[in-house]
Amino acid sequence: MNKDTKKLLIYSLFKNSKKYSIKWSSYFQVYEKILSKYKNKKIKFVEIGVANGGSLFMWKKYFGKKAKIIGIDLNPGAKKLEKNGFKIYIGNQSNKKFWSYFYKKEGKVDIILDDGGHKNIQQISTVHYSLPYIKDGGKIIVEDTSTSYVKKEFNNPSKYSFINYSKKVIDSIHRRSPLLKKKLSFYSKKIFLVEFFESIVVFSIDSRKCFQNKEVANEAKNEWAIDYRNNEYFGELKSKLDKKYGSLNKRSFFRRIIRKIFYRNFMFNLLDNIKIKKIFKDLDN
Ligand SMILES: C[S@@+](CC[C@H](N)C(=O)[O-])C[C@H]1O[C@@H](n2cnc3c(N)ncnc32)[C@H](O)[C@@H]1O
Repeated sequence: MNKDTKKLLIYSLFKNSKKYSIKWSSYFQVYEKILSKYKNKKIKFVEIGVANGGSLFMWKKYFGKKAKIIGIDLNPGAKKLEKNGFKIYIGNQSNKKFWSYFYKKEGKVDIILDDGGHKNIQQISTVHYSLPYIKDGGKIIVEDTSTSYVKKEFNNPSKYSFINYSKKVIDSIHRRSPLLKKKLSFYSKKIFLVEFFESIVVFSIDSRKCFQNKEVANEAKNEWAIDYRNNEYFGELKSKLDKKYGSLNKRSFFRRIIRKIFYRNFMFNLLDNIKIKKIFKDLDN
């Protein structure tokens, strides 16, 4: 356990919770980073995976009296924690009908944290069916996402792992860029930010910030700067030709030929990719 974690309030609440709980040691600093702004606020916080109830007691103390703490578990035994002031739902996080029932009862919530079964279908269903019901400014937090790499019990790595689903969400939020020339989807209209920690993925929901992007220029004039993006290869030679034959930026047949050679040459793309491939390989070292 690192010494900074030991100093965190959330860690001491975990250690002193009156019921058993088990979490990974890196999670406490993530909790502090993403959840501290909700302390003492009137929020609805939902945790999937109740077990003995240890983490529910931790959350109750952490968020304070104004927060409503809700637990969800498939194990009917969890219901007994209602006598401690928690609202408990017994249901299956992979089941669409359960989620319809849950949100019909509870309405929109602020935060949903998934510490349930950790299988692809369970994690993906939680995000997919909860997304319409998270308030703007809220979060969906999925724990134990390292199961996306584990064969035993979790049937991963797979095309349909939770991490691959999350990567698709990244593609989806880029629809907000006009460069993609794609229509906004429900996901791209709701999810503002995706954060990847080791074993935790956080989706920040805010439809107010999810608009179609557009370029904006300031009031000053573009005096001289041109983009040197394509001057990496033979940049000097290109400048010499510029001087000798006049600017290659003029619209002419000659310009088009030169641009083909110096700018859009597949050879340059190939050279780039050879370098990138080496960097990709270094990623694994
Ligand atoms: C890791 S434990 C939760 C621990 C608890 N959050 C804590 O820190 O004290 C996982 C729980 O998820 C529940 N669970 C497993 N699959 C589920 C499912 N499909 N739907 C709802 N709960 C599920 C299990 O019954 C178990 O109690």
